[in-house]
Amino acid sequence: MREFRDRVAVVTGAGSGMGRAFAQRFAEEGMRVVAADVQADALDRAVAELTADGHQVVGVRTDVSDPAAVRDLADRAVEAFGKVHVICNNAGVEGYLDGAIWEATDRDWTWTVGVNFWSVVYGVRTFLPLILSHGEGGHVVNTASMTAVTRPSNMYGITKHAVLALTETLYADLRTRGVPVGVTALCPGTIATNLFLGSRNRPSELRNETETPGAVAGRSKRELMHARLAEGMSPAEVAEHLVAAIRADRLYALTDADWDDRIRERAGNILDRANPVLDRANPVLDRVPPVARTNPPTVNGKAS
Ligand SMILES: NC(=O)c1ccc[n+]([C@@H]2O[C@H](COP(=O)([O-])OP(=O)(O)OC[C@H]3O[C@@H](n4cnc5c(N)ncnc54)[C@H](O)[C@@H]3O)[C@@H](O)[C@H]2O)c1
Repeated sequence: MREFRDRVAVVTGAGSGMGRAFAQRFAEEGMRVVAADVQADALDRAVAELTADGHQVVGVRTDVSDPAAVRDLADRAVEAFGKVHVICNNAGVEGYLDGAIWEATDRDWTWTVGVNFWSVVYGVRTFLPLILSHGEGGHVVNTASMTAVTRPSNMYGITKHAVLALTETLYADLRTRGVPVGVTALCPGTIATNLFLGSRNRPSELRNETETPGAVAGRSKRELMHARLAEGMSPAEVAEHLVAAIRADRLYALTDADWDDRIRERAGNILDRANPVLDRANPVLDRVPPVARTNPPTVNGKAS
């Protein structure tokens, strides 16, 4: 999709972080924007700020892990602007970080997989027919992660691998049918957002009744990771990458080259039939490379 003006974008997770930046960037391109988020105060603030800047923005409080709420979001988008051209399935949470994967409860899985993966299933199956219905083309953006293209090491990584697999499958299904709708798997690296404060929106019915032994450790991991993200790329910079990726019809949109060694390491291990070598001394930070930010963003391995 090369033309953005007057087109309609729906962005989930638009109350904070990258979603907020995408909503703004799309609006600055002249798009009409439907901003969705489960956190009402953050959503209201984002909509008020964008509206004050003269943009056409509508806010819809939406829990993306609920298929009926995603359906309602689509209905509200059509009601407001008549059509949808771009859907950004972007809302996500850090999810379960509180112990080994076998120690996670049903509630941990339901929350993490619901917000990070099922939301994308609901977003694709609800919005793609709307994009196809007007024949003007459009684009589906699913926010995956660098953890989707490197060795997963927690529940979050599992969900992001699943998002990438879904996005690649969608891409193939559209292309083999000659359908002119673009697809992007956005793979951000380390971005300065509130991702590791995601538990703020965990519904009470999906919180564990008793504190699991790992919950205290999980809290300190979240604090550590929140501080690490603060050193990362700005959401506005990611929004620039995203707009460029949509214009170029790029499936894999990696925000930087800081994770390339890890991408190669995993692919190399698989091809070599070799087991991964793990940093047992530092299992949390092992997941995130130091923020170099000197690396140029790359397009298919080449500097852009
Ligand atoms: N920050 C990073 O370093 C990073 C890296 C790779 C991928 N990502 C992904 O980027 C996306 C955006 O996250 P962010 O980093 O901007 O974090 P963020 O916490 O700043 O924003 C996420 C937004 O999603 C909303 N949200 C949470 N649960 C929801 C639900 N059930 N329904 C609707 N909205 C919900 C939150 O209220 C918040 O506004 C996520 O999918 C995340 O996994 C982030």
